[in-house]
Amino acid sequence: MIHTGDVTVDGAGVEADLSYSAHLMDELGTRWRAVPGNHDVGDARHAHQPVNAERLTMWRRHFGPDRWIEDVAEGALRWRLVGLDALLIGSGEPEEAAQARWLEQVMAEAGERRIAWFLHRPLFLEDPGEGDTGYWSLKPQPRGALMALVRWHRVALVASGHLHKAWDFTFESTRYIWSPASSFLVGAAQPEMPGEKRLGAVVYELDNAALTARIAEVPGLTQHWLDDVIEEVYPRPANVSG
Ligand SMILES: [Fe+2]
Repeated sequence: MIHTGDVTVDGAGVEADLSYSAHLMDELGTRWRAVPGNHDVGDARHAHQPVNAERLTMWRRHFGPDRWIEDVAEGALRWRLVGLDALLIGSGEPEEAAQARWLEQVMAEAGERRIAWFLHRPLFLEDPGEGDTGYWSLKPQPRGALMALVRWHRVALVASGHLHKAWDFTFESTRYIWSPASSFLVGAAQPEMPGEKRLGAVVYELDNAALTARIAEVPGLTQHWLDDVIEEVYPRPANVSG
């Protein structure tokens, strides 16, 4: 199980939210990994909750590393899954440069493995050449460097969360999949962009020949809209969206 971030409501502000949510992940009873979301570790250059060393230390205490690799190598299967901390990107934190060096290295050392990235914030919404989409995708400058790596290493899959929308498309032979949330949908607070407003998860099957991915229903979810529950979920006016 891979959680693509915003595991918590406000782990960036309340450590107990991190410990509680990590406990819930453990209760799933399967091996899991997570990459942080903006509500878990803060955001790059955020006025109130900037990502910083203290918040990353708290994340790591409960969830382990905020960047990781998993090599899937059973029989003929050869994939390298790469988990990235999207909130460091554009932050100017020392860890941003460290992650960039680490990423170059793990990509270079992937050898013949096919590569899949997992990160909270999508690289782009509609086109990697698009301008600044604000809250919703990575900034154009760091996006350019990451797209260069995607192209050079022929990354097979870039999987993300953050948008509370499901979308599955291919661009330049890389598959991009936005995992829907399991929590709630976002109504008027979200600008027009591709994708389907639905809850659920993504089921992946990896083998040498093909990547199979299916956006799936998760039984038992209730379709809440953020617009209706925002006062309960994010009572402070600074946090208006997921
Ligand atoms: Fe998010």
